[in-house]
Amino acid sequence: MEALQSLLEMKTWSQKIRAQGLIIGFVPTMGALHEGHLSLVRQAKKNCDRTVVSIFVNPLQFGLEEDLDQYPQNLEHDFELLKKENIDVVFVPKPKEIYPLDFQTAVEVSGLSKQLCGKSRSGHFRGVATVVLKLFNIVNPTKAFFGNKDFQQRVIIDRLVKDLHLDVEVVACPIVREADGLAMSSRNVYLSIEERKSASVLYRALQHGRRLFQSGERRSSKIIAQVREMIDKENPKHIDYAQVCDVETLEEVSEVQTPSVLAVAVHFGQGDKTTRLIDNVVLDSNGE
Ligand code: PAF
Repeated sequence: MEALQSLLEMKTWSQKIRAQGLIIGFVPTMGALHEGHLSLVRQAKKNCDRTVVSIFVNPLQFGLEEDLDQYPQNLEHDFELLKKENIDVVFVPKPKEIYPLDFQTAVEVSGLSKQLCGKSRSGHFRGVATVVLKLFNIVNPTKAFFGNKDFQQRVIIDRLVKDLHLDVEVVACPIVREADGLAMSSRNVYLSIEERKSASVLYRALQHGRRLFQSGERRSSKIIAQVREMIDKENPKHIDYAQVCDVETLEEVSEVQTPSVLAVAVHFGQGDKTTRLIDNVVLDSNGE
């Protein structure tokens, strides 16, 4: 595994590989790697000739009140995990190379970025879209792998690629869960033992919502009411949203059309120190 830091080194490597007609698979990450990331890496390895993983905690996607300063980082451990997966390149760019002082261009997927998490995290998806476009330009991958845990992010990247005619295939990968159903996330480490127990309600509530749908309920309001009730029993700090949305436009639907996504964002914890977790399930007629 090669570790590359400079943009020039990364671009030169990719040019060489593409010139040989080989397929580059890319997994962008912010580090603090877990099984969810590793499942993306394994998909990339299976489907591509070479695999690149980037580790970059992107300041542009964090709001002023958010956890940029505390965001979990353990580069040594990440490198060990990636070495075991036998990837080709880990790309760890320096913030000042990605965002030089005179940097002033950003991209925004305007409509989709306003839905769901966009309502409480203004500017977040602008930061995500901008860094992903930059990384695509530097790494020049053939395929890029994104997890469906960040469903809205994946939909936004799909749109970005279509709207800007980017020459990269976005591959959506399934959510990886802990034994009790909690979706894997780098932010799970913030949870206390009690909060960790409570957080497992998210998947139980989503599964309950899906069962209601499977038994014929189509009114979003009914499904959402029961999902909220289950989550509320665990005394979270705050339910940011529980919504049923169209899987492409991410607009709320009052009747569940298929396929739709049932998505939640919930803050666990007390006082100022809360952890915001997101999760979702797709409701479709195949009984998924
Ligand atoms: O999902 C993430 O870890 C980040 O949002 C991404 C895609 C690496 C962009 O910083």
